[in-house]
Amino acid sequence: MRAVVITKPGGPEVLELREVPDPTPGKGELLVRVEASALNRADLLQRRGMYPAPPGAPKDIPGLELAGTVVACGEGVTRFVPGDEVMGVVGGGACADLAIIHEREAIRRPKGMPATVAAAIPEAFMTAFDAVVLQGGLASGQWLAVDAVASGVGTAAIQIARAIGARSVGSTRTEHKLERAFSLGLDVGVHGTTADLAKRAREVSGAGVHVGLALVGGQPLAELVGALRPRGTVVLVGLMAGAKAELNLVTVLQKRLHIIGTVLRSRPLEEKIAVARAFEDRVAPLFEGEAPSLRPVVDHVFPLEAVADAHAALEDNANVGKIVLFHG
Ligand SMILES: NC(=O)c1ccc[n+]([C@@H]2O[C@H](COP(=O)([O-])OP(=O)(O)OC[C@H]3O[C@@H](n4cnc5c(N)ncnc54)[C@H](OP(=O)(O)O)[C@@H]3O)[C@@H](O)[C@H]2O)c1
Repeated sequence: MRAVVITKPGGPEVLELREVPDPTPGKGELLVRVEASALNRADLLQRRGMYPAPPGAPKDIPGLELAGTVVACGEGVTRFVPGDEVMGVVGGGACADLAIIHEREAIRRPKGMPATVAAAIPEAFMTAFDAVVLQGGLASGQWLAVDAVASGVGTAAIQIARAIGARSVGSTRTEHKLERAFSLGLDVGVHGTTADLAKRAREVSGAGVHVGLALVGGQPLAELVGALRPRGTVVLVGLMAGAKAELNLVTVLQKRLHIIGTVLRSRPLEEKIAVARAFEDRVAPLFEGEAPSLRPVVDHVFPLEAVADAHAALEDNANVGKIVLFHG
């Protein structure tokens, strides 16, 4: 099969499309013909040699999410048969013609949705659902604050908030991205820093927001903590702005706040399966029907052969939503 291979640590130029042996599905696993995959910040870090693949995932083939069709089933598979259209998150290896996914991590693709659209769902929407709803506990009538609101995870989070009857306030450093975020259901937009976001969040929510989604980490995390109401929760999902923050612990103590850190990729399989199952039951149906309440947000589709250009585009921070690779 063809696979994108990280030939050595470095920039997008170290990626090469090569012929490699086909993978074989093990017990409970599916072999999927990948029709489309999507990029994540973790792919960029892995390419630079800063984020090794977890045990069991291909070491040098990036790609954390896919949409495709089952072509073979390993021993004991009961949920799928060859020909089924699936999508899902994997530990690596999605940037190839064939990839392996555990049958209980695989999610049925929304009916009639092209693979290049479905590939924009798994990582962004599962991360947002898990962080905001399952861990943050966001509920109807509550407020969510999100930094980097036009990112893949941000655009998923504001849609999920809207779908469950919550309201959202979000920020971006790039003004024109707000228009798209509003069209996806953002209630209050801020062009500026996370400090500006926290100020606006306190104004619009009254006592502060119930849940903060910290997508860039660093000092912005501390600003988001300042936007919380008593017993509010901030969920730390990413570290693009750095791994350190100076935090006022008096606020954390007196407001009895919760700070949760989360990753999907390095969790034990059973924990990832639990999220995938909850997602298939509660979120995946919202992409279907005449007027779906959730929409995958595709910024740009590149052919697999142009994977280096796709990586460079993500590094430019110009995207709203996901950058997708079409495998053909
Ligand atoms: N924990 C997990 O399991 C998990 C899963 C998926 C993603 N993530 C993390 O979640 C975050 C969002 O991922 P994504 O794929 O949705 O991102 P994305 O679509 O690539 O968007 C990221 C956006 O963040 C903004 N940004 C970049 N650097 C920034 C900085 N230093 N300060 C403030 N804003 C910055 C940029 O938008 P502006 O124009 O607004 O600046 C950029 O376009 C990333 O940190 C990623 O690593 C974590």
